Amino acid sequence: MASSSLVLPPLYIAILAVLAILFHSSSQASADLFEDNFSKSCPETNFKTSEDGQIWYLSLDKKAGCGFGTKQRYRFGWFSMKLKLVGGDSAGVVTAYYMCSEDGAGPERDELDFEFLGNRTGEPYLIQTNVYKNGTGNREMRHMLWFDPTQDFHTYSILWNSHQIVFFVDRVPIRVYKNANYTNNFFPNQKPMYLFSSIWNADDWATRGGIEKTDWKKAPFVSSYKDFSVEACQWEDPYPACVATTTKNWWDQYSSWHLSEDEKNDFAWVERNLVIYDYCKDKERFKTLPEECSLNPWE
Ligand SMILES: *[C@@H]1O[C@H](CO)[C@@H](O)[C@H](O)[C@H]1NC(C)=O
Ligand SMILES: *[C@@H]1O[C@H](CO)[C@@H](O)[C@H](O)[C@H]1NC(C)=O
Ligand SMILES: *[C@@H]1O[C@H](CO)[C@@H](O)[C@H](O)[C@H]1NC(C)=O
Ligand SMILES: *[C@@H]1O[C@H](CO)[C@@H](O)[C@H](O)[C@H]1NC(C)=O
Repeated sequence: MASSSLVLPPLYIAILAVLAILFHSSSQASADLFEDNFSKSCPETNFKTSEDGQIWYLSLDKKAGCGFGTKQRYRFGWFSMKLKLVGGDSAGVVTAYYMCSEDGAGPERDELDFEFLGNRTGEPYLIQTNVYKNGTGNREMRHMLWFDPTQDFHTYSILWNSHQIVFFVDRVPIRVYKNANYTNNFFPNQKPMYLFSSIWNADDWATRGGIEKTDWKKAPFVSSYKDFSVEACQWEDPYPACVATTTKNWWDQYSSWHLSEDEKNDFAWVERNLVIYDYCKDKERFKTLPEECSLNPWE
């Protein structure tokens, strides 16, 4: 019986052939959906997409992590994506979602970071944000979240114009970083940036200051992504269309230079309840607080 059942009638073979073609072309289309906008750097084993190509999975195991970045650079705009973070025991694992002027950690880079710091099962994730100007960061803030970011997708966004940078979680502003008189000393406003995400092992510092180590028996650690969207000025070399401060783009308009009244209410709630660490309040670390700390986020 075993051997005769392997001899398929021609009709079945034809159907299988059609299915094979369909399957092949649909997985091709979903690969394109990612590859139209992103390049990745990781082994094939650490990057997967859902069958329809809409959801992307990055994984970390003992051998490798994974990262991807946009092919285009942008200067000013609204950058948004939905992420679902590694669940269960994710201590030591960091998922980063950030913008950077270069593909690397060069000494003159500008960078805007969201970093999600994993934790032991049931212990809260923290979200760390940072701003780099010309290679200098040291502008960390840490927040608790008001939901479990491993259960569902949530939206993480950055608004960036020449007046302010705002980090949003589900459209709630959690951090406002202001420019003043357009000084360039601390406000990244010249270099266009790519958008990146990656997952890596940071158990030397991430969870309870590095006390909690990554438990590799729980690997692979997987974070999921969908609904990437940007409304931004795409940079064109040699010199961009993104220079004018007089553009009609909504993110450059007066109403985007400060929080709306509703956003101010949300931001006040975040400031009262969710801030764990703010470098601008750390007088032990900074004898003189950095210049930007005197700026008023409510203006
Ligand atoms: C993604 O790539 C497609 C095809 O190249 C392009 O039309 C679209 O504008 C890109 N999306 C973003 C957000 O850059
Ligand atoms: C940027 O940083 C580099 C390297 O630290 C330094 O040589 C350069 O002067 C800085 N540029 C500006 C505009 O501050
Ligand atoms: C902007 O510059 C003016 C004049 O130099 C100064 O008086 C003012 O304090 C500055 N504003 C901020 C927010 O730094
Ligand atoms: C992890 O959980 C511990 C215990 O609840 C908490 O103190 C810590 O802030 C959490 N997050 C990180 C990143 O350490």
